[in-house]
Amino acid sequence: VAQDKKFRIGFSQATTIEPWRAQFNKDIIAEAAKHPDVELIITDGEDRTEKQVADVENLIRQEVDALLVSPKESAGLTGVVQQAIDAKIPVFVLDRNVETDQYTQFVGGDNKLIGRAAGEYAVELLGGKGKAQGNIVEIWGGMGTQPAHDRHDGFHEFTDKEPGIKNLLDKQSGDWKQDQAYNIMATALRNNEKIDLVYGHNDPMAYGAYLAAKDAGREKEIKFIGIDALPNEGVTWVSNGELTATFLYATPGAEGLRQAVKFLKGEKVEKTVTLDTLKVTEENAAQIMKDNGL
Ligand code: FRU
Repeated sequence: VAQDKKFRIGFSQATTIEPWRAQFNKDIIAEAAKHPDVELIITDGEDRTEKQVADVENLIRQEVDALLVSPKESAGLTGVVQQAIDAKIPVFVLDRNVETDQYTQFVGGDNKLIGRAAGEYAVELLGGKGKAQGNIVEIWGGMGTQPAHDRHDGFHEFTDKEPGIKNLLDKQSGDWKQDQAYNIMATALRNNEKIDLVYGHNDPMAYGAYLAAKDAGREKEIKFIGIDALPNEGVTWVSNGELTATFLYATPGAEGLRQAVKFLKGEKVEKTVTLDTLKVTEENAAQIMKDNGL
């Protein structure tokens, strides 16, 4: 280790096969490059809890100065996060939580709030408060993750108040993946003559559902709502008229690293840092793409 690298920070990422996580890693690497005193060690859980648990154990053994972790699932990662805490390593939990609050800090978006914003918009798209009519397909993210539950709960705070809204599926998870969402939607299309709106817990799943509807020649009858708003994904799909809306779920890469460095330099940090969201529709999609050089 070079002498000038004062802080060794380990980051355990859940997977890199999902585009949002690839962006997340880019963001944390770019931020680390701004801190010459930081050595960043990134591991890839390859979308498997056992692999990610082994990664964190490894980072603990390497005695990193701080551990950043974005868990594949809450329950499965809780034990090893607790081990890090017990070993007196400051732990920063990013995006998906664990089942302890003894960590140093949590950094991420407010999924309940995003779910509410999506639910409120769905009601508006289906005719407005008290008058909304329509059949909804909801495609869940990973069942073992808090974001999926919060995105569900927030959404239903609005849609469940509408007697004219019907939920066609009961807890069908696409595990955040486009191809799994495609299959769920293909089945839903076969079983239901009328589908008015799809709520995907992330953009890849909303887009997978859109592709299934397109292959069935029914995409024009349906509104698609997603979450993430990566400029080259969700925002582009909105701009193309494929998705109706997406809600920004900023990656906590840059902020997470900044907070860890702040803490390691002896400053106080908040228990929770919440990242802002933004509704993206055809009104602002093109501008966002332009701002991102697309
Ligand atoms: C990527 C992802 C995002 C989603 C987030 C939720 O792995 O599925 O698409 O917004 O995780 O934790």
